[in-house]
Amino acid sequence: MPIVTYILRDGTPREVDVKPGTSVMEAAIQNDVRGIDAECGGCLSCATCHVYVEPTSTAQLPPPDDLEVELLDGVAAQRRPESRLSCQIIVEPATAGLVVRIPDKQG
Ligand code: FES
Repeated sequence: MPIVTYILRDGTPREVDVKPGTSVMEAAIQNDVRGIDAECGGCLSCATCHVYVEPTSTAQLPPPDDLEVELLDGVAAQRRPESRLSCQIIVEPATAGLVVRIPDKQG
């Protein structure tokens, strides 16, 4: 299964084996990765699943759609060019090796 690496707030990398078709947010919740709150459960309405996609991984992902871009305006931590909502990133074989960094706050 594809591996996703979460860089935790203290800088520790945490590798998770993720079933294809699962979102980066769902995989974090299922594996008790701290720092992704996901208050809306993936309905694209809370922006508390914010992550920074490491520059080495951004080319692996399709760009965010208009609604995700709009919701990224509401993230609690600093918004950066590599900001994404992890509920909108679906893990697939093509995303193997994805690395995301958890921001310092979600709400
Ligand atoms: S979980 Fe709410 S927007 Fe992603």
